[in-house]
Amino acid sequence: MSGDTDEAHIMNISRRASEISPFYVMELLEKARLMEADGHSVIHMEVGEPGFETPGAIKQEALRALNDGKTFYTHSLGIPELREAVSRHYRDRFRLDVSPARVIITNGSSGAFILLFAALLERGRTLAIADPGYPCYRNIALLTDCTVRRLPVSPDSNYEVLPDQLRGPPAIDALVVANPSNPTGTIYRAGALQALHEQLSARGGVLVVDEIYSGLVYDAPFASSISISEDIVVVSGFSKAFAMTGWRLGWMVVPPGLVRPIQKLAQNLFIAPPSISQYAALAAFDDADGLARMCGLYRERRDFLVPRLRGLGFDVPVKPDGAFYIYAGIERFGMDSMLFVERALAEARVAITPGYDFGSFRAASHVRFSYADRLENLVEGCDRLERWLQGREGS
Ligand SMILES: Cc1ncc(COP(=O)(O)O)c(C=O)c1O
Repeated sequence: MSGDTDEAHIMNISRRASEISPFYVMELLEKARLMEADGHSVIHMEVGEPGFETPGAIKQEALRALNDGKTFYTHSLGIPELREAVSRHYRDRFRLDVSPARVIITNGSSGAFILLFAALLERGRTLAIADPGYPCYRNIALLTDCTVRRLPVSPDSNYEVLPDQLRGPPAIDALVVANPSNPTGTIYRAGALQALHEQLSARGGVLVVDEIYSGLVYDAPFASSISISEDIVVVSGFSKAFAMTGWRLGWMVVPPGLVRPIQKLAQNLFIAPPSISQYAALAAFDDADGLARMCGLYRERRDFLVPRLRGLGFDVPVKPDGAFYIYAGIERFGMDSMLFVERALAEARVAITPGYDFGSFRAASHVRFSYADRLENLVEGCDRLERWLQGREGS
C-alpha cells in the first residue's frame, strides 16, 4: 500500500493507474505470504480461491492438448468445441437453449468484464454496482471514464439491489450484479432479477449478471438469468466451480448484437483466450460427481463457520446460500475493519478481508470470511480468533 504516490512521482503514471484502489485482499495475501516465508503459520480466510486442485480429467485434457501441439492462437471468440460445450451445459443444467454463437470464451471472467465494459461504457455513461459488491467491476469500468454509481444493499433486502434504486437521474446504462454474490454469498430471490431487468430495459439499460459462483449453490433454488431475456448479459467462468483459477478462462453469453463488437475488441485486446486452457476445459462439464463432491465440502464448511462466527460475536444476519463467503458485522468489537484485519493477521495469524474491499457502505463495520480452505484450517482459524478476541477483552 505504501509507495504508490512515490511511483506516480518518479514515472509519468496516468491518473487512473495511480488512483485505482488496491485489491486489499491481494495485498493481505501478499503480506500473509511474507509472514509464512518468515516461518509463521497463517490461516487463510481472505482469499476467494478454491482450496482444491483442478480435477484430474481437466489436467489430462491439457496434457493431451500439449502433446497434440495446440499451442497456437485460437479463434478470438474461443474454440467452437468449447462454445458448444458451454451451450450444452445450459441445456443440461438449466434446460435453456443458448446458441453457441452467443457464447464468447474469455481470458477469465475478468477478461469478459474488460471486453463488455469497453463495448458498453464510455465517458457520460453510468454503470451501477451493488455496495458491498465485487470491487473489480468498478475498477475495470473506470478505465472507460464512465461514471460508477454504488447502490447500497443491506440484509433487509437479502443484499439485493432493488428496482427503486435504479431510478435516475442519471439514467443507468448498465447494472452489474453477482448471483450468487461476492462478498455476501446470497442468491437473488425468484423474480428479483426479472424486476431489475424490467426497470432497466424500460430506459435502455443493460443488465449484466455475474454467475461465476453458480456452480457453488447449496440450499437455495438457482436459475440462470439467461432464462429472463435474450438481452441480458451473463458472465461466468471456470475459476471457481471447476477450481481453475490459474488457467484464466471464463465465458459470457451476450445478446446477438453484441457479438461482433466484442469480437473486434477481443481480437485487439487479447487476440484469443489461452489455447491449452480451452482444450482442457472441454472436460470440465463432464464431471458432475466431482462438482457435487466439492459442493458438499463447501456446504459442510459453511455449516460449520456460520454458527461458529456467530458464537464468536460476529453478526451474520443472512445465511449465505452460495459461493464460499460470509459477510460478517464486527460492530461488537469496536474496531474499524481495516484495523481489525491488520491486527487479526499480526496478532492471531488469521487473514480476513476488510469490508473496504467491497465498497464504502458500512465497510468500516464488516469483514469477509472465505471458506474456500479446508475445514481443519477453518477450525484452527476460529480457535485462533477466539483466543485473540478473548485476550483483547481481558486486556
Ligand atoms: C464475483 C466475481 N466475479 C469475477 C471474478 C474473477 O474471476 P476470474 O478468475 O474468472 O477472472 C471473481 C474472482 O474472485 C469474483 O469473485
